[in-house]
Amino acid sequence: TRVGVLISGTGTNLQALMEQAKRTSSSAEIVVVISNKPGVLGLKRASLAGIQTRVVDHKLYGSRAEFDSTIDHVLEEFDVEVVCLAGFMRILTGSFVRKWNGKLLNIHPSLLPSFKGVNAQKQALQAGARVTGCTVHFVAEEVDAGAIIAQEAVPVLMNDTEESLSDRIREAEHRAFPAALELVAGGGYHHTCPNTPWPPSPK
Ligand code: GRF
Repeated sequence: TRVGVLISGTGTNLQALMEQAKRTSSSAEIVVVISNKPGVLGLKRASLAGIQTRVVDHKLYGSRAEFDSTIDHVLEEFDVEVVCLAGFMRILTGSFVRKWNGKLLNIHPSLLPSFKGVNAQKQALQAGARVTGCTVHFVAEEVDAGAIIAQEAVPVLMNDTEESLSDRIREAEHRAFPAALELVAGGGYHHTCPNTPWPPSPK
């Protein structure tokens, strides 16, 4: 399965996905990495792994529709079948999300449906949650909604700061995201998540 990864930054999740895809047992092949920000570390990680990169700078587009359609063209150019959002910090338009329905995966640093939106780790601390985690889900038009593919729980410890909690969640993300991608790319999602209708719809 040909995979495109969209990033905006450091790309530690991208790194985990690339390492999984390199295994001979993997059903995924990452064919392009697209960043909306030039010069980020994630682009360098992709180049070092010999993967093609593109920058689609949102600041150069007059509307979200034009930005999204440029990304869509790049994905089509590379014959991408499955798209992973790995720390991609732009909200995609409804028409893009609908076109890629069931093929667009996102990672979020909480156990959804808890703590949607930005600062999910801070929200967990402020709520006094003893457990949080990460979620890989299909993207639906509503932000941080859509069928769940994989989750991993992470404890919140007594003296946690936003940073220490974020670090612990990120380690879990590096396991959950490759596992979820493998499930989708290998066609095993239906069998593992029989309660979820296909195509996946918002919850
Ligand atoms: C992750 O914590 C992800 O959950 C959030 O953005 C972060 C991306 O980190 N949406 P990285 O760029 O993969 O290191």
